[in-house]
Amino acid sequence: MEQRRILVAVTGGIAAYKVPELVRTLIRAGAVVRCAMTREASEFVSPMVLQTLTGHPVRDHLFDPSQEGEIDHISLADWAELVVLAPATANTLAKLAHGLADDLVSAVLLATRAPILAAPAMNVNMWEHPATRANLEVLRSRGVHTIGPEAGELACGWEGLGRMSQPEAIAAAAESCLAPNDLAGEVVLVSAGGTQEPVDAVRYLGNRSSGKMGFAIAAEAARRGARAVLVAGPSSLPTPAGVRRIDVGSALEMRDAMTAEFDAATIAVMAAAVADFRPSQSSQRKIKKEDLPDGAGLTLELVPNPDILAELSRTKGERTVVGFAAESHDMIEAARRKLTRKGCDLLVANDITQQASGFDSDTNTVVFVWPDGQIEQLASLPKREVAAQLLDRVMKLRGESQ
Ligand code: C5P
Repeated sequence: MEQRRILVAVTGGIAAYKVPELVRTLIRAGAVVRCAMTREASEFVSPMVLQTLTGHPVRDHLFDPSQEGEIDHISLADWAELVVLAPATANTLAKLAHGLADDLVSAVLLATRAPILAAPAMNVNMWEHPATRANLEVLRSRGVHTIGPEAGELACGWEGLGRMSQPEAIAAAAESCLAPNDLAGEVVLVSAGGTQEPVDAVRYLGNRSSGKMGFAIAAEAARRGARAVLVAGPSSLPTPAGVRRIDVGSALEMRDAMTAEFDAATIAVMAAAVADFRPSQSSQRKIKKEDLPDGAGLTLELVPNPDILAELSRTKGERTVVGFAAESHDMIEAARRKLTRKGCDLLVANDITQQASGFDSDTNTVVFVWPDGQIEQLASLPKREVAAQLLDRVMKLRGESQ
């Protein structure tokens, strides 16, 4: 965490007494720490203690004429590379979930573009209240990281979940939230999910792609400082934090969106399962079996879709273009041929017959295939980790080509 800028935002719970220890742990690990607090928090821990430990002034209210412009809420929000909200009270979590900003901490949380790590601490009944549960769900879906709370004896006399995690555990979680900023300046265009090829007003030809792999790549790219654009086929997955999402339906729509965004991109990753064929015609009305002779079948004529990956690769210039290949047999040979045919810089092959691999799984077992025929087999990993490894390889390729 050497020289990483961490803002510890303290809200008003008894667990605030552990914050000086958290601050010391972060500083010992090399971080530059500042603190902001609510007025209620300053009832539990003295701003003077935090000021002395961090070597920086500590504010506990939104407007201070003597310090405005230097450490106002926007400067603090912009300064931070990570905000650690500890303890995170039910009240502040609710404010953040709903976009309220009526004190220094909630204003900083709303204004910052840095990742947020929340360490909740509260009475067990407040923690289990449906309102708190719903607020946490919203916050997690927006990419807010959480640690704890832990179970045990609570300061209020109750037993149960509600104790703030220990400072060492929070510091370790902070370290893993602080991703390297190695993709800053890159514009990463990612396609994800399957496409739906219309047959008539209600039906389509589709496939079983969940979109999880592509969403994970876009999320990881944004986390590492890139501008990430996600062109997504129909999917109910939440948009990852910091990602610009463009929803599309058919392969033709995906091609339009990808082509339009490709100009500004420096890296393109085609993780989508694009339909190779579409019905040559799609009826505006619902096709009814009553309109066909009794017992008659229905024949659909399919025509090929454009190969988006091959098209983009042809005009890639300095860009790095990555393709995916879902294979069920002869994986490596098929992947090598595909890479050559499509002209991309790297191909990620996965065997969809394996359990921990492919569609709708949270893990993937992939092999990287390089233009010189070399391969690199990874273990079965969470898709988030596969995304990280893939972007590492892409950045290495870009480094080598400069
Ligand atoms: O040929 P195949 O569909 O196996 O190739 C898979 C790779 O090509 C994936 O990266 C996929 O996103 C891309 N693709 C494409 N346009 C298509 C078909 C596949 O960009 N029409």
